[in-house]
Amino acid sequence: MRSNLIAGLDIGTANTCAVIGEVTGDARRSSLRILGVGQAPTGGLRGDLVTNIDEMTESVRTAMGEAELMAGASVDRVYAGIGGNHIRATTSMGVVAISEDEVTADDIERVHIVARAVALPPDREMVHAIPQEYGVDHQRGIKDPMGMSGVRLESEVFLVTCEITSSANITKAVNRAGYRVQELVLEPLAGARAVLTEDEKEVGVAMVEIGAATTEVAAYYEGKIHHVSILPYGGSTLTADLMRGLAVPHREARLAKERHARAFAQMVDPRETVALPGPAPGQVRSVACELIAHIVEQRLDEIFGMVQGELQDQGVLDRLGAGIVLTGGSAAIPGIVELAQQIFATPVRLGVPSEGLGGLADTVCRPRFAVAAGLALWGADRFAETGRGASTRTSGIVTKLGTWLKEFF
Ligand SMILES: Nc1ncnc2c1ncn2[C@@H]1O[C@H](COP(=O)(O)OP(=O)(O)OP(=O)(O)O)[C@@H](O)[C@H]1O
Ligand SMILES: [Mg+2]
Repeated sequence: MRSNLIAGLDIGTANTCAVIGEVTGDARRSSLRILGVGQAPTGGLRGDLVTNIDEMTESVRTAMGEAELMAGASVDRVYAGIGGNHIRATTSMGVVAISEDEVTADDIERVHIVARAVALPPDREMVHAIPQEYGVDHQRGIKDPMGMSGVRLESEVFLVTCEITSSANITKAVNRAGYRVQELVLEPLAGARAVLTEDEKEVGVAMVEIGAATTEVAAYYEGKIHHVSILPYGGSTLTADLMRGLAVPHREARLAKERHARAFAQMVDPRETVALPGPAPGQVRSVACELIAHIVEQRLDEIFGMVQGELQDQGVLDRLGAGIVLTGGSAAIPGIVELAQQIFATPVRLGVPSEGLGGLADTVCRPRFAVAAGLALWGADRFAETGRGASTRTSGIVTKLGTWLKEFF
């Protein structure tokens, strides 16, 4: 087994995607040579809820097996995504006295421990504690305080927590499929890693990842993460609307959406029609494409409205100089960029994983692969720092320590 292999595994509510790559590049911003990609419909999930762990395991096995076959290599550990309605994120501050005249590694360690020491209910656990910046005495916005003189060290840490049952189910499905979870990564952070540039994060940008059951948002400015949220609406909501609006079964509604939907009714010729199955078996009727677009537009308008309201409430809407980046499987709907542009009145672009990727990068160059590719890139960043890939065997304790150290620095 090669030691510089990384695997990203995104168990979405509709699709499970696996990406295997080989780390190249330097420690500052690593690159990944894509070797293999695998996909399978996710079984055993209804929304956030696991209804059948065996089916979920089978989806992981299929997606990973396909990626390994394509890569011609096997891995034993994966960076797995976690998302869902149960995720909570907050910013926490820590303050300590600087023990000597200048800040030492020990001070940074202590302030980090203080900042992440929040009381968690017994059913929740921490997914991330990401140091954002430090303050020494009255000076703020310090990226690396090591060696600075002062008496008081502060740190701002972005904390993400999840329900233990949710992370346990992911770990269980991955383990049963024959792999181990190297690290759980919040899906919107992984997606952002794949589709946002460092410049955009500096100027201000919000990634809006529209999947099947969820829409995930991650907003950055001044190079820091300021807000993440996961809304319980996405492509499945559009499918459900079309089922009701067109009176067609679920499968037909999904296919009508994926083949004929447009996000902007104005873009559609009113004379354009498609043939859909009628109410009785064997019947066919003609449906106006404008009607499909109208239904889709209404729901997307509502979802974007919610995202906008949230960004406004969090005080980040006015700071998005680089605008909005749309990604996720449902971002493939034609006209979605134009609709978002109209609603947000900012620049909007489609986000596909490409930066920092080589090899078979074109296989993941689609919005639906943003999270899986981002998970693999997240792993590549870890590898650049720790030298550990997806196929070097280390004990759980060492892996945990490595994870903690990464978040610490
Ligand atoms: N061409 C297309 N046009 C419209 N919708 C599409 C298209 N291709 C895929 N979708 C929709 O995208 C959704 C799947 O996207 P994705 O794979 O990102 O979701 P997921 O990760 O499984 O779900 P989630 O992130 O919500 O858990 C489905 O609702 C699917 O119908
Ligand atoms: Mg997803």
